[in-house]
Amino acid sequence: MLEIKNLTAGYKQGPDIIKNINLTLLENEIVTIIGPNGAGKSTILLSIFGLTNLRKGEIYHGARKISGLKTDQIIRSGIALVMQGRNIFPDLTVEENLEMGAFVLQNKTEIALRKEEVFNFFPILKKFRQKSSGILSGGERQMVAISMALMLSPEVLLLDEPSIGLSPKIAEEVFEKIQKIRDSGTSILIVEQNAIKALEISNRGYVLELGENALEDKASELLLNPKICELYLGKS
Ligand SMILES: Nc1ncnc2c1ncn2[C@@H]1O[C@H](COP(=O)(O)OP(=O)(O)O)[C@@H](O)[C@H]1O
Ligand SMILES: [Mg+2]
Repeated sequence: MLEIKNLTAGYKQGPDIIKNINLTLLENEIVTIIGPNGAGKSTILLSIFGLTNLRKGEIYHGARKISGLKTDQIIRSGIALVMQGRNIFPDLTVEENLEMGAFVLQNKTEIALRKEEVFNFFPILKKFRQKSSGILSGGERQMVAISMALMLSPEVLLLDEPSIGLSPKIAEEVFEKIQKIRDSGTSILIVEQNAIKALEISNRGYVLELGENALEDKASELLLNPKICELYLGKS
């Protein structure tokens, strides 16, 4: 579904931030990238989305090479990114935010249909439909941010720290929704500081250190790996 081959990238004229990264995301998988702050996790997602300076290697979405494409072309190829920080438009209503998520779609009927599907997936957002998004709680904002991405029925969904700052209960709800999105046929790549929770819903995981691949394994194995537990999962 998504394949990163030997990717080296950075920002503008700056140093290489990620180096020789290899990563695959298969159909119907959830894959999580864990690693310390500043390891380059977000940079991987931004690179897939065409927002960094790619210096070496390639990225494929299925058979199609997407490295080198512009972000809007990458979006049109079926990849959606939910950036860290629940980026929504607080002055717009929830419904308007969803429409913003569908900006590459032209067909009004299709947009209306997608909106109903997304509201049915996140029924809690229905009552805020015409309300300004600025009044929403953190969890509701995250659901709007994910909804905006779902407006395009992406084949691949990239999620940067989906549970950061959320209470355990709300984070749990978000992770349940993420699993449902996978079950409905979207492959998902997550970057998450809440590594245990993310690995629990993942098929596989990658550990990133100083911008390089350190380890890759089944999520269930990473959860049992003593070194990983000590370094990244906050248990010993
Ligand atoms: N827009 C940017 N311009 C320049 N450097 C950046 C930018 N974003 C991140 N960096 C640098 O890239 C490194 C990796 O950051 P990031 O990918 O955000 O790590 P992580 O998500 O693992 O915490 C850090 O040293 C950070 O300062
Ligand atoms: Mg980050």
